[in-house]
Amino acid sequence: MKGIILAGGAGSRLYPTSAIYSKQLTIIYDKPMIYYPLSVLMLASIKEILIISNSETLPFYKKLFQNGNDIGLKIEYALQNKPRGLADAFIVGKKFIGSDDVTMILGDNIFYGNLNFVRDAVQNNIGATVFGYHVENPKSFGVVEFDDESNVVSIEEKPDNPKSNYAVVGLYVYNNEIVEIAENLKPSARGELEITDVNKEYLKRNKLYVKLFGRGVAWLDTGTPRTLLDASSFFGALEDRQGLKVACIEEVAYMMNCINRKQFKELIGKIPNSSYKEYLENIYNDRTLYQEYQK
Ligand code: G1P
Repeated sequence: MKGIILAGGAGSRLYPTSAIYSKQLTIIYDKPMIYYPLSVLMLASIKEILIISNSETLPFYKKLFQNGNDIGLKIEYALQNKPRGLADAFIVGKKFIGSDDVTMILGDNIFYGNLNFVRDAVQNNIGATVFGYHVENPKSFGVVEFDDESNVVSIEEKPDNPKSNYAVVGLYVYNNEIVEIAENLKPSARGELEITDVNKEYLKRNKLYVKLFGRGVAWLDTGTPRTLLDASSFFGALEDRQGLKVACIEEVAYMMNCINRKQFKELIGKIPNSSYKEYLENIYNDRTLYQEYQK
């Protein structure tokens, strides 16, 4: 299973924060936003990852992650020079995907909680697996409608009259049919290749599975200055209370055994003196934490 993080886009709604580089580099409390979706892929045991972005932002991602080796991953980069829609990622990433299945996560989607069900979906996917989340205002999202037996009846992109409160989140698990489906999509009225049209095609083929997030999982919005601040406050409160970080990719790499203890130590050695480094040193020394995680 390959992974794609789509981390470009104009981000015009967050101007001027997003004027220099794409919003997925914006800081959420103590780390860039993209760390959060990257850690979700890592927790699902996905190790080959393509980051797609625009020409202004790609160099920053390359500087941050290089080839991914330090955290036990293989990270590649691809340019999307114009935002042609989410489904365009599978055309841009065609060579990278090859004959594999692929999970895509949007670089601005932040999830928190027990995400084991994502790993299960990644391991057991047959056609397409997408995820529904109960939201107050579904009009801004893809919306999924179920019948009384919980079968998917329809999926609509940003409907004026949503048929349910279940939004489709920005995390999609697809088999290899995705490339052919994306290549045959027609642009929507706004001129983009819509991910919802991809999901509709899987639904037509009877291969769309929608799993609902439980109440214990948070899906945070990052679309406005206010929701960015809220996300930072949320993780700030949590991390400071526990003394444990969320989406700390070096720690995740160690806990998930993408790197061994010796490599973890070497990696910590490369990090500049900072509270982040001190945190990783504490993780290194806390054998209980590691043992607990392996259970
Ligand atoms: C996109 C998708 C939408 C999905 C959302 C999740 O919308 O088109 O179906 O629900 O991501 O974040 P966007 O927010 O890019 O307009």
